[in-house]
Amino acid sequence: MINAKVRELLNQQINKELYSAYLYLDFSNYFEDRGLDGFANWYYIQAQEERDHAMLFYRYLQNNNEKVTLEAIAKPDKTLDSDMNVLKAGLEHEQYVTSLINEIYAAAYEVKDFRTMQFLDWFVKEQGEEETNANDMITKMELFGSDPKSLYMLNNELAARVYTAPSLVL
Ligand code: FEO
Repeated sequence: MINAKVRELLNQQINKELYSAYLYLDFSNYFEDRGLDGFANWYYIQAQEERDHAMLFYRYLQNNNEKVTLEAIAKPDKTLDSDMNVLKAGLEHEQYVTSLINEIYAAAYEVKDFRTMQFLDWFVKEQGEEETNANDMITKMELFGSDPKSLYMLNNELAARVYTAPSLVL
């Protein structure tokens, strides 16, 4: 039995990760419309990774015989009015997700739920990587975004990203 508060937070995280997938699909859509297919590819793959995250929380609850309750996924709510603002919205969102993971971890720690803490360890590391990636995107855009040739090359670099399944398997 998972503690009620921990279970509720884990269940909510399924929704938060699916919202993340939806948000990044919106980012991908924005860049597709801009003609920046590499950026669009990068966020399309990010959306796939977020869906994977949702599935990991779903599977973890299922594997522990806990009931999953699926709620409505909110409409993406970020204002996508410039390339840089999209990238900054991405970093802000990842920092928010990190705070959510930390909140679940703290709840599990409080009730000595070592199994959930171990499960969350992968996400703690993943969030570090996701914040680094979001920061790197902003830095590169600051450096190269205003020069069309450099933006073209950056777009090509991001077009090379390929989807890989998460290293955590449940
Ligand atoms: Fe699933 Fe980008 O956090």
